[in-house]
Amino acid sequence: MLSILNLNIKNKIIFIRSDLNVPIDLNGNIISDIRIKLSLPTIKYALNKGCKIIIASHLGNPIEGKFNKLLSLKKISIYLAKVLNHKVILKKNYLNGLKFKNNEIFLLENIRFNIGEKDNNAILAEKYASLCDIFVMDAFATSHRIHASTYGIIKFAKQSCAGILLINEIKNLTRFLKNPLKPIISIIGGSKISTKFNILKKLSELSDKVIVGGGIANTLIALNNNIGNSLYEPNAILLAQEIIQKYKNIIIPIDCIVSTTISNDSLIKEKKINNILKNEKILDIGHKTINIIQNEIKKAKTILWNGPVGVFEFKNFRKGTESIINAIVNNNIFSIVGGGDTLAALELFNVCNKISYISTGGGAFLKYIEKNKLPVISLLKNISQN
Ligand code: 3PG
Repeated sequence: MLSILNLNIKNKIIFIRSDLNVPIDLNGNIISDIRIKLSLPTIKYALNKGCKIIIASHLGNPIEGKFNKLLSLKKISIYLAKVLNHKVILKKNYLNGLKFKNNEIFLLENIRFNIGEKDNNAILAEKYASLCDIFVMDAFATSHRIHASTYGIIKFAKQSCAGILLINEIKNLTRFLKNPLKPIISIIGGSKISTKFNILKKLSELSDKVIVGGGIANTLIALNNNIGNSLYEPNAILLAQEIIQKYKNIIIPIDCIVSTTISNDSLIKEKKINNILKNEKILDIGHKTINIIQNEIKKAKTILWNGPVGVFEFKNFRKGTESIINAIVNNNIFSIVGGGDTLAALELFNVCNKISYISTGGGAFLKYIEKNKLPVISLLKNISQN
């Protein structure tokens, strides 16, 4: 892919599509800023080259054509101005042109407020493209979406290229796909198995062992056990069975932490998976499962992890996730971690700098591993220097 680093961008108007879709609490505070931090190198590089900079991002999933204060990028513009120590102006009306006064950065208001963004409307994409000399795609986490600001714009921009974050993501994920040191352990958690069948199959083929946790594991456990009141997907049972029969390297929890409620004060019990009562929910893995996982991680040379194995937001259900983190950071292995909740867990335990590579992608990360391509990346690969 043509990189921003290989183009003459001096003094040009640059439109950077970043993914600044970060979790924000009800008081408007940014809960995790990893995605913003990892987007900064491209922005700083363009600043140093004297570029006039336009940044675009989505936040959440607003109804197109409707302003929604909760999903405004206002907070993000303030945050960016602080970390860049630079004037950042949030622009609401920009589709008919932007006039720079000095060297301010324009942050476009939530790009998904625009009608046609998610349908990849060509008129909208052309309008975005007309704002700039060079389009820089840096939103890896949105590169599985064929939207006007990620995909359509590339067809109309005078010149397009990839940003520093995007190049880095592809480099590291390719290292996992093409050149991994073995044994490889993949850990997949999260709530829904129905959305993860394909990635589970792919990881089972690529990895020596695949460890499952969270709601995904519950559906697999439910094949042969009563899982009480636990989260699982009854409609996915047959497909789960097919996976388990075909892939013998998938490790399912053998014991778990259960409770009837989910809070920091919940009464917890450790149980074998065949002994769960009707009113109990599985909320974390048990210590025997933790031992199995730790032993597997000790043997591994490469780890890929997406999705916590318990409800780690509550202190009594975080031991499983914490033990995985400790095993990864205490062993000298190449580790790739992605997905919003998993990154939040890394931040909670303050270990982000101990992971070999943190991917900003959630869905995009898994899709890229599954297919070894994404629509936007394929389009960018065909772009050369004009
Ligand atoms: C993400 O959070 O995975 C990306 O920002 C993409 O968001 P989306 O799933 O709403 O397209």
